[in-house]
Amino acid sequence: MEQCPVVQIISDIESIQTKCWAWRAQGATVALVPTMGYFHAGHISLMSWARDHTDKVVVSLFVNPTQFGPGEDLEAYPRDPERDAAMAREAGVDALFAPDTGAMYAPESSTWVGVEGLDQRLCGRSRPGHFRGVATVVAKLFNLTAPHLAVFGRKDWQQLVIVRRMARDLNFPTQVVGRPTVREHDGLAVSSRNVYLDPHHRAQAPNLYRGLQLAASLVEEGLRRSDEIRARVRDFYGRTIPDGEEDYLELVHPGRLEPMEELEGEAVLAVAYRLGKARLIDNIRISLDD
Ligand code: PAF
Repeated sequence: MEQCPVVQIISDIESIQTKCWAWRAQGATVALVPTMGYFHAGHISLMSWARDHTDKVVVSLFVNPTQFGPGEDLEAYPRDPERDAAMAREAGVDALFAPDTGAMYAPESSTWVGVEGLDQRLCGRSRPGHFRGVATVVAKLFNLTAPHLAVFGRKDWQQLVIVRRMARDLNFPTQVVGRPTVREHDGLAVSSRNVYLDPHHRAQAPNLYRGLQLAASLVEEGLRRSDEIRARVRDFYGRTIPDGEEDYLELVHPGRLEPMEELEGEAVLAVAYRLGKARLIDNIRISLDD
C-alpha cells in the first residue's frame, strides 16, 4: 500500500516562518490554505488544488477569536484536530500550522487590518467587526507563510473579495485564488457549521441553493430587476424553508459588492439565512455574458 507522506504539525510562529522562507529560498512555490479546521470535502478540495499547483502546501488551522462577535459560536465551533491532521496528511499537505491564540496574538495586540466599505456590506451588517478579524488574521498568515498562492472557497464570496482587496492594497506578493463551492449530494454547500442543523432543519437547508438556482433560471427567462428576482426567491424560501429567517438576500456587483437594481453584465446573488442554530450562507454567480 502506498504510504502517505508525513504532515509536519507546527504551532510555533518562528518555526513556520523559517520553514516557509527556507522553501522559498530553495525555489519552491508555496500555497497557503487558511482554515479554522474541522475539515470537510470543501477544505480537501482546496488542499488538493493547492497540491496540484504548487510545490509546498501549508494549511493553517486556527479558530480565530477576533472574527467572532459577542454571543457568536467561538466556544462551540466544532473542533477535531486529530482527525484534521489525518485528513491533511491524506491530502498531501506538507505543513499544518496550528498555533494557539497566545502565539498568534501577542499580549496587547492592537494592530488591525480593515477593508473599509466592503466590510460593511452583506454579512458585515449583522456581524460587525467580523471582517476586520478575518483581514487581520489573513494578513498575519500571509506574513508568516509568504505564500505565492492563497486558496479560499467561493462560498464565502464576501471574504474572498475582501481578502483579494486587502492583498492588493497592502502589496502582498500573493495571488488569492477562489475555488468553487463543494456541495452535498442535495446541493447544500458543505460547511463546518452544518453540524448545527438538526434533521428537520437539515431537510430544509438544501432549498437555500435551490432558491439561488431558481433566480438563475428566472434570469435565463428574461427577468432583470433585482426586486422581482428576489421576490420570487423569497416566495420560494417562505414555502420551502418555513423555519428559516432571512438575514439578507442581495444581488450585488461581484467585485464591489454594491447592490444592483437591475442585472447588467455579472452579478452575485448572495444569501444568509438563520435556520435553527445555524446561520447558512451561499451565493450564485449570474452572468448575462454566458
Ligand atoms: O474561512 C475561514 O475559515 C476563516 O474565515 C479564515 C479565512 C480561515 C480566517 O480565519
